[in-house]
Amino acid sequence: MKTTSAIALGFIAAASAQPARLTARSEAGSSGCGKAHNSGFNSNPDSHTITSGGRTRTYAVRVPDGYNDDKNKPRKIIFDFHGRNGSPESQYKNSQYDKYDAGKEYIGVYPAGVNESWQGAPYAVEGVDDVLFVKDLLAQMRQEYCIDDDHVYASGKSNGGGFVDTLACSDEGDEFAAFAMASAALYDDTSKDRCNKKRAILEAHGGNDTTIPYGGGPTSSGGNVPDIDQWVTWWGERDGCTANDESTTQHDGYETTTFACEGLRAVVKHYKINNLGHCWPSSTGDNSDGSRSYCKDHSLDFTPRVLDFFSKWNSTNAPKN
Ligand SMILES: *[C@@H]1O[C@H](CO)[C@@H](O)[C@H](O)[C@H]1NC(C)=O
Ligand SMILES: *[C@@H]1O[C@H](CO)[C@@H](O)[C@H](O)[C@H]1NC(C)=O
Ligand SMILES: *[C@@H]1O[C@H](CO)[C@@H](O)[C@H](O)[C@H]1NC(C)=O
Repeated sequence: MKTTSAIALGFIAAASAQPARLTARSEAGSSGCGKAHNSGFNSNPDSHTITSGGRTRTYAVRVPDGYNDDKNKPRKIIFDFHGRNGSPESQYKNSQYDKYDAGKEYIGVYPAGVNESWQGAPYAVEGVDDVLFVKDLLAQMRQEYCIDDDHVYASGKSNGGGFVDTLACSDEGDEFAAFAMASAALYDDTSKDRCNKKRAILEAHGGNDTTIPYGGGPTSSGGNVPDIDQWVTWWGERDGCTANDESTTQHDGYETTTFACEGLRAVVKHYKINNLGHCWPSSTGDNSDGSRSYCKDHSLDFTPRVLDFFSKWNSTNAPKN
């Protein structure tokens, strides 16, 4: 009896030390646990719609193999956002998470942008609140699937990558443990003061990107984007690091820059792929971007780097304000 009450007291003490948001979340649990889903990629809009901000939105889901063998097992989840004029399916085939063992464990959710674009870019459809869409969709995913709230992540390419940054800068970003982007179109993050969130951030950018130029400035879409090296430094500073916490290493065809501070492992990590264009970096070119003429540089395979980065962050150890 004594042991039982000691455990109970310890449990209450631990629970009350949690922020209110986390307590409410874990009490609610993921009500989708126990529901059956076919494994594999499913983009059927009839079964994947949600009303958000007064619009009907659609998305695709990739369900891990053997999901129904353990319908009550909480699953890690990645929200993966396509680029301008892309689709859930094109992004699924671009990041190819399920090609890698570590990626097979995740539920992948692939939201579709309104007019194939995302909030924050000059060509985005006016008045669309994609941050609200993500909030509503995460709630719906928790109702339909068994979601591990401690392991929720976001990734995206180009306009979808720029939106991942917008999400990171929002309060809704608190739900996510880490953020990854490829050739991010950072129209919505052109000054350090734009954002005061501490986040785990990963980006890869081609040194020969002519759509979202590495050095920043105006783009052919009529907006302005930041110099990528400068933007990486902003995130280091937002996370509380100083210039002394920055290190850069050269590799064959690319360089890696990291910020590691406050006892944290690399909280900001960046890959510059010298001769790559506007692409999701792949070592084989068998992804959606692989056929593009400017995506022929294969020095870096980005997807396993994203999975490795995500594996290091969760709701407990993610940087917080
Ligand atoms: C949708 O995108 C096309 C070009 O891709 C553009 O011409 C059109 O104005 C856009 N529609 C809206 C509602 O913004
Ligand atoms: C850089 O991109 C341009 C335009 O896409 C292309 O013509 C050129 O060959 C590329 N350079 C390298 C070194 O890949
Ligand atoms: C988060 O990761 C740390 C290791 O960095 C681990 O000790 C901790 O148990 C993890 N928390 C959750 C909720 O997974």
